Amino acid sequence: MYKLSINNLTTAQFLSQYWQKQPLLIKSGFSNFIDPIEPEELAGLAMEDSIESRLITNHNDDWQAHHGPFADFALLTPENSTLLVQAVDHWHPEAAQLLTPFRFIPNWRIDDLMVSYSTPGGGVGPHLDQYDVFIIQGQGKRHWRVGLPDQNLKQFAQNKSLLQVEPFEAVIDTILEPGDILYIPPGCPHEGYAVENALNYSVGFRAPDQKDLISSFADYLIDHELGNTRYSDPDLHIATSIGQISETEIANIRQLMQNVLSDNDTFRHWFGTMISQPKHDMDLAPLENPLNIDDLKNYLETGEVIVRAGGVRSIYQVLSDTILLSVNGESHTLPLEVLDSVKLLTDLDEFTVSQIKDSFSCLEFMKTLTKLISEGTYYLQEDDEFE
Ligand code: SIN
Ligand code: CO
Repeated sequence: MYKLSINNLTTAQFLSQYWQKQPLLIKSGFSNFIDPIEPEELAGLAMEDSIESRLITNHNDDWQAHHGPFADFALLTPENSTLLVQAVDHWHPEAAQLLTPFRFIPNWRIDDLMVSYSTPGGGVGPHLDQYDVFIIQGQGKRHWRVGLPDQNLKQFAQNKSLLQVEPFEAVIDTILEPGDILYIPPGCPHEGYAVENALNYSVGFRAPDQKDLISSFADYLIDHELGNTRYSDPDLHIATSIGQISETEIANIRQLMQNVLSDNDTFRHWFGTMISQPKHDMDLAPLENPLNIDDLKNYLETGEVIVRAGGVRSIYQVLSDTILLSVNGESHTLPLEVLDSVKLLTDLDEFTVSQIKDSFSCLEFMKTLTKLISEGTYYLQEDDEFE
């Protein structure tokens, strides 16, 4: 269990003073920090086909990027190299626990946990990220510099897959020690070089841009055969110039598009389904024999704790008279009476069977839970797994 302290700030003060506003050095954010993963395990993950990894080297200022999976780690030299592995929380339950203290920020905004291992001098070079990030220092030390957003800073490609930024002025210049954390808002240039062999954990966030949203919404309309109302103009008048598109016509086109965006059920169903989709594979263990709804109660008697598997994205929305629960890109409509149980499923990493017992009389809830447990997005911890 990791306990976060943000200097002397409450999480509410952190949000109002720093979140998306300015970078912050959080000294000893985790006291007596113990790494949840060893460098050797990280290397093991980087050998897997289904896990995204990169190795960056910077010998004599020559930046090179290599993409995993890696069969060996000859490129991870004793100096000037970094191995980065994406979505480690999807594969490593102990590492996934590092996300829990940051869950004062809503689930849908949290992306995944990236872990890097760097040898002295190693890093990814000066760069900007489009998303907020908390960088936690694990074992070892790393020298970090962070600047403020600057429109004039030019980005350039060091090579095909390594975008960097020109030298910047730092407002934070520090050597991170185990348990220290940097909060970096989007667009702040930063660079970190290991002083000694170092593990770093990056808690990343999601913030879709307009084109991502519009293109995903359009895909949703196509998949669900919606948005078929066509432009029409029964009140068309003789135009003064047939070459022109008039103000009224443009307003009508905009209105036609806005109508489909304004359909609340479609909009919410699309957003919940889309934003709950994981970007990376994950290590789910579906039941060998999927449950049917009549087996569920008996099955739940074989354990007490239900765990949400690492990386599973689980969110809900309250609609006018239903709840829409979206888990890993699939949405389920449930009655409002099971709201307390839905909150447990989405707010907590784990909860007990007795905490959701009140909802067992709801057929829709039981159907949904049967599916979630059968597919492995939620699993019943066996009694002998208790610590
Ligand atoms: C790293 O751990 O090397 C990369 C973290 C970052 O700068 O986003
Ligand atoms: Co970065």
